[in-house]
Amino acid sequence: MVTPAFGHDIVTTKLTWTQEVSRLVYKHCVSCHREGGRAFSLTTYAEARPWAKAIRDEVLGRRMPPWGPVKGVGEFHDDASLSLPEIDMFVAWVEGGAPEGDPALLPSHVPGAATTPVALSTRRVVDVATSLTLSSPLTVQGLRPAGLQDRQSLEAWATKPDGSVERLIWLRDVRTMALRDYRFRTPVRLPRGTSVQVTGPSGSSLKLLCD
Ligand code: HEC
Repeated sequence: MVTPAFGHDIVTTKLTWTQEVSRLVYKHCVSCHREGGRAFSLTTYAEARPWAKAIRDEVLGRRMPPWGPVKGVGEFHDDASLSLPEIDMFVAWVEGGAPEGDPALLPSHVPGAATTPVALSTRRVVDVATSLTLSSPLTVQGLRPAGLQDRQSLEAWATKPDGSVERLIWLRDVRTMALRDYRFRTPVRLPRGTSVQVTGPSGSSLKLLCD
């Protein structure tokens, strides 16, 4: 079935705002994109529809929702980024004409505003600006970037005494609004003699939050 929707767009997808897309947006976007929030509101179809192509571009470029660490380097709790199936769903909806669907299927309520992420409190904080060789073993619970400005990047890795390399985090083109303490899903154990390397703009550093 092909139905004309908004303007000249032709609807070629079964995905709709009221059924799938509003749920994704409520889960991942409206904590900021709401009336009185940090960004323009995306809570209704009428508000979201004019942004459809920008939404596709932002989610495909992984710029929205802002989170920080590049996927695949380090695994962190509360990862706010979208999964690939979620990205595919946004793209398919937009490219299929971004239809509204049956208003009766809308979720009954819009979730609340963003809460500030909690800072991780650990016994030791080891600040690394460029490199550091550990004189005793460390168990790293999380990482706290410092001194980064919007659109800057920072990368960190550990070279263990046996020569193996563990990439710790890669923050690329960051949005400072998204930066927080990144807590590892599994604490990273670094033996004595490990060399921790950080590359970032001058004035930036990475704090290792340790037991
Ligand atoms: C942590 C807050 C936050 C979350 C969560 C968030 N955004 Fe945003 N978004 C912003 C802010 C702030 C802007 C304003 C422009 C900027 O600073 O980039 C923005 C801008 C945008 C833009 C406009 C980009 C342009 O063309 O200038 C789009 C589209 C967008 N967001 C889509 C989304 C979608 C879709 C989601 C969920 C999948 C989302 N955002 C989640 C904060 C957020």
